[in-house]
Amino acid sequence: MMTKIIDGKQIANKIKEEVREQTASLYKSKGIKPGLAILLVGNDPASESYVRSKERNSENMDFHFVMERRDSNITEDEVLNLIDQWNNDDEIHGILIQLPLPKHIDENKVLTRLDPDKDVDGFHPINLGRLVVGLDGMVPCTPAGIVELLKRSNVETKGKHVVVLGRSNIVGKPVANLLYQKREGANSIVTICHSAAEDVFQYTKQADILIVAIGSANFIKEEHIKEGCTIIDVGINRIDADNEKGYEIVGDVDFNSVIGKASAITPVPGGVGPMTIAMLMSNTYKSAAK
Ligand SMILES: NC(=O)c1ccc[n+]([C@@H]2O[C@H](COP(=O)([O-])OP(=O)(O)OC[C@H]3O[C@@H](n4cnc5c(N)ncnc54)[C@H](OP(=O)(O)O)[C@@H]3O)[C@@H](O)[C@H]2O)c1
Repeated sequence: MMTKIIDGKQIANKIKEEVREQTASLYKSKGIKPGLAILLVGNDPASESYVRSKERNSENMDFHFVMERRDSNITEDEVLNLIDQWNNDDEIHGILIQLPLPKHIDENKVLTRLDPDKDVDGFHPINLGRLVVGLDGMVPCTPAGIVELLKRSNVETKGKHVVVLGRSNIVGKPVANLLYQKREGANSIVTICHSAAEDVFQYTKQADILIVAIGSANFIKEEHIKEGCTIIDVGINRIDADNEKGYEIVGDVDFNSVIGKASAITPVPGGVGPMTIAMLMSNTYKSAAK
């Protein structure tokens, strides 16, 4: 079977182009620029690089962009005060607290302090509640990106069996909750698997759409999937490699092994990853338009 490679980079670029046009016309008609504020605490290299990419993308969209950097000895009260300030700032429509925060700061307390309508990461329990009930709200970026990838790749979801591996609050749980909703681009039968499964492959073999978000390099192979399934590989794993860098990035799915048996797959890198930032831009624009 020919396996279609779902080009997440191309689809993400298309979405960003759409957001850029919408942003320009919002500014023309109402004089409003979507405003995104980011707090970066400490100097974790991965967080630095994520934030830089968010900044670059915001500039490309012509957003109003604010970034505050703080040392890791910042107090919890100082973080909460900054959030209050942004919650009350009419020029800020999206607030993003780059995680992880230092251990002495209660992440839950911080995330629940955000105005849910400015919570562009969609991590506030109010937004997760809206998602479960099926109300409009901020949807976490990676799950929103997965649903958008399926839609724009014309993968039928209605009545299909979706198996999700992983139950994290940022990927597994929200993507499962999005896909069983009775609406277009969803309406699936969803199974959620986690590490307590005695034989996880018993479930993966039944999937029409297999979403893998466990953080285990090349975990899923040809013998674990059903012929003709669609695979969304969320994993980002660094493994040793015989190249200049000494490592390479691979997904949770052994890409070469499933090629020829799956009908479609997202590559790593270049699949789900680029969608996450595109949906962040889209969430910020939507918040401003509202
Ligand atoms: N592309 C992107 O933009 C993006 C965004 C977010 C995350 N990621 C990547 O996605 C991966 C998952 O991250 P995450 O934060 O969602 O998850 P996480 O918090 O690391 O949790 C992993 C989940 O997988 C489950 N799990 C682990 N091994 C398993 C196994 N053998 N069989 C079944 N379930 C298993 C765990 O079960 P328990 O609950 O029982 O422990 C847990 O629910 C990581 O590689 C991460 O880097 C990518």
